[in-house]
Amino acid sequence: MVALSRRRFLSAALAGAALTACARHDAAPAPARPDAGLAEAIARTEAARPHTGRTVTARLRAAPGDLDLGGPVVRSLAYDDRVAGPLLRANVGDELAVTVTNGLDHPTSVHWHGIALRNDMDGAAPATPEIAAGAAFTYRFTSPVPGTYWAHPHSGLDTDYGLYLPVLIDDPAEPGDHDAEWIVVLDDWTAGVGPDPHQIFDGLRSRRMSMHGMPGMGGARSALLGGDGGDVSYPYYLVNGRIPSAPTAFNAKPGQRLRLRVINAAADTAFRVALAGHVMTVTHTDGFPIEPVDADAVLLGMGERYDVLVTAADGVFPLAALAEGKDGAARALLRTGAGSDPGTDFRPAELAGRVATAGALTAAASVRLAPKAPDADVQAVLSGGMMGYDWRINGRPFTDAVPLTVHENERAVLTFVNQSMMWHPMHLHGHTFEVLRSDGATGPRKDTVIVAPMQSVAVAFDADNPGVWMLHCHNGYHMDAGMMTTLEYV
Ligand code: C2O
Ligand code: CU
Repeated sequence: MVALSRRRFLSAALAGAALTACARHDAAPAPARPDAGLAEAIARTEAARPHTGRTVTARLRAAPGDLDLGGPVVRSLAYDDRVAGPLLRANVGDELAVTVTNGLDHPTSVHWHGIALRNDMDGAAPATPEIAAGAAFTYRFTSPVPGTYWAHPHSGLDTDYGLYLPVLIDDPAEPGDHDAEWIVVLDDWTAGVGPDPHQIFDGLRSRRMSMHGMPGMGGARSALLGGDGGDVSYPYYLVNGRIPSAPTAFNAKPGQRLRLRVINAAADTAFRVALAGHVMTVTHTDGFPIEPVDADAVLLGMGERYDVLVTAADGVFPLAALAEGKDGAARALLRTGAGSDPGTDFRPAELAGRVATAGALTAAASVRLAPKAPDADVQAVLSGGMMGYDWRINGRPFTDAVPLTVHENERAVLTFVNQSMMWHPMHLHGHTFEVLRSDGATGPRKDTVIVAPMQSVAVAFDADNPGVWMLHCHNGYHMDAGMMTTLEYV
């Protein structure tokens, strides 16, 4: 009921400030936001985005289903009964009109991760009301920037049950230097085969004193992540919804240039990704071009995306996504000729080669922030630990959060100060930031950045998208435990 009246309020608010004033009195209970000023600012910002006049419509149904992971058939949640979901694709400036039907037994939402879209379509409450069970809602927005994105609910642990899908935004003016595209969506999977995500979360929260009980990691370490790989050991790691023994195969021809769009949709797992027998040219971080760099592998925290180019060799080549600091891997195959699959235990030598990490990459000149002195400094101190499972930002859980604030048009520097012994993939909604590299060089443009234990990472962004935006750790369990706050315009 609340969700419905809020939504009715919201659609009225979008029609204009005068209407908003009326709706505000009519709607019960009246939500605190958006107010008339914010609705006007959202409409003004939307008008400034590019618009092609074309609308791309799609329908998504979030529902429980029997999902075939390539052997095990599990009862869990997915969009349109498919793990890794249907692909959503449009051009920059197209209006996406995505009608989401909620076939779950609880409210849900769809958050368009990484897209700097209008705040009231972000798919995270309170900016966008949740969709009540049995109801439907049409998200309408445009993306101002091309790139590799993805979508998932912003409600509890739903993403970890299998609700996610890739979202690609193309720039027709820049088709890219490749012959084919391979979308690679990575996940850690337990629902229906191990304890379900809620049982894991309850175990993490109640275990308090034990560091080695189930679900635990038993002391695995990752040099790249600066300590523990994660909090949870998963039964399976998936590429495009398939377990390692039943890998998805991508068919291409030798010599073709392939663009891999790699998306980490996992809850608690970073992946180190390599393609056996191939050097990768890393071209994009979180959708944005970088100065291309050759690497043997890339590291992705939860929520991150990397685009890489490879020139296909002749044969059968495993793509391996090592669960970083854990025991296990996801895998898929590139098939361009004769050859056999070396099997699930095979680990490409490339995994131990040069690993591209965000801190050593540089944004392409076309997407660097204009030089400007910062107007505002905001800080997010990250704390918490396995004892009590009390993940916090600035000392507070989300239920008690004090919003970070910026003024419209400011250049803000946001510093993540990690005072915990765990790494955190920190994600800001509605904006992309430039990572301020510790060596002073220009960093990559991103919306999610890995912050290693006891380290700080500073990022700069322009406050050009008014609204109430989530800022959180993209570890699903840390987020649910409270490692989230908001960034608000004042
Ligand atoms: Cu992937 Cu708050 O988002
Ligand atoms: Cu975290």
